[in-house]
Amino acid sequence: MNPTELQSKPEVICRCSGTTTAQIQRQIDRGVTDLDAISQATGVCSGCGGCEAEVLEFLAGCVSGAG
Ligand code: FES
Repeated sequence: MNPTELQSKPEVICRCSGTTTAQIQRQIDRGVTDLDAISQATGVCSGCGGCEAEVLEFLAGCVSGAG
């Protein structure tokens, strides 16, 4: 695990809000896995909505094994 890698290369997953995958990961770490809640917290999916599929895919990857 290398947190520095994430910080040096933030991946913007939502161009409208500039939300990065690291910001979403932080919400997941806090137990927030609901798209609406993450949207409110980070601003992701609050614009054109074009990132929704990507965000859901990221969420699924992060919480895989939870079901
Ligand atoms: S790219 Fe995320 S709302 Fe537009």
